[in-house]
Amino acid sequence: MGGESERIDAANVSAYASDASVSHYAAQSSLQVGERAVLDALGLDLAGTDLLDLGIGGGRTTAALAPLVAGYVGLDYVPELAERARARFPGVRVETGDARALEHEDATFDLVLFSFNGIDGVAHEDRLQILSEVRRVLRPGGRFWFSAHNRGWSRFHRLPWQGRPRPGRVMLRKSYEAWRARANRRRLRPLEVHTDEYAIVNDEAHDYGLLLYYVAPEAQVRQLEAAGFGDVRVYDQWGSPVDAGSTSPESIWLHYVARS
Ligand SMILES: C[S@@+](CC[C@H](N)C(=O)[O-])C[C@H]1O[C@@H](n2cnc3c(N)ncnc32)[C@H](O)[C@@H]1O
Repeated sequence: MGGESERIDAANVSAYASDASVSHYAAQSSLQVGERAVLDALGLDLAGTDLLDLGIGGGRTTAALAPLVAGYVGLDYVPELAERARARFPGVRVETGDARALEHEDATFDLVLFSFNGIDGVAHEDRLQILSEVRRVLRPGGRFWFSAHNRGWSRFHRLPWQGRPRPGRVMLRKSYEAWRARANRRRLRPLEVHTDEYAIVNDEAHDYGLLLYYVAPEAQVRQLEAAGFGDVRVYDQWGSPVDAGSTSPESIWLHYVARS
């Protein structure tokens, strides 16, 4: 079996491309509470902004943001999702592409967004490559805004059950979903990675069908700074500013906004 990158891609691309996943993401259309709060806090002039929206899924953020900005490009590496978003929003530019190898010219965008922890779906070296690619396509002073799973979350050590009884009951139910969840868990759990800097975990998302990166805010800020970003701001999942030195135990994911 290939390296870490190939193993993670094999799991995550097929989970995101499943019929259930495509239907789920194509039914979404509004910004999350935390996303609205971060947007307000940033006070951006969206009307003058060229936006690259990475990992758009079925176009949830396309619906909310494309009408507000000067230029909009949406992109996803799952062709089925990009196709659904294209069909939903005729006239909006939606590309099939990979955030690790962007085909855009240097200094093309004012804002790059990777929403709802989409960046967490790739291996560690690939994540660093995404940071570098995003910085390359941003204009000087442009911003990268993304969310990412928080390794400092108080229930991280209780994954995959996340401290709630529901998954246990799901696993016991004699249903196809429970069978699939069990099969996914058996297949993916041995591929988990735990290091001092990050963990790649098979949590309950998509019926245990994904391997997702979790990182504490301090380590995430260090990665951004190493990639050349500055002025990094961190917000909790509801959009309140947090100190990057704290672990933010109440938030399963955090928002990061950094300047190129
Ligand atoms: C959790 S889903 C979120 C979808 C959408 N942003 C939303 O909030 O509804 C993550 C998305 O990121 C996409 N994605 C993950 N890694 C990617 C990569 N390297 N390049 C492009 N898209 C990627 C997945 O295909 C998926 O659509």
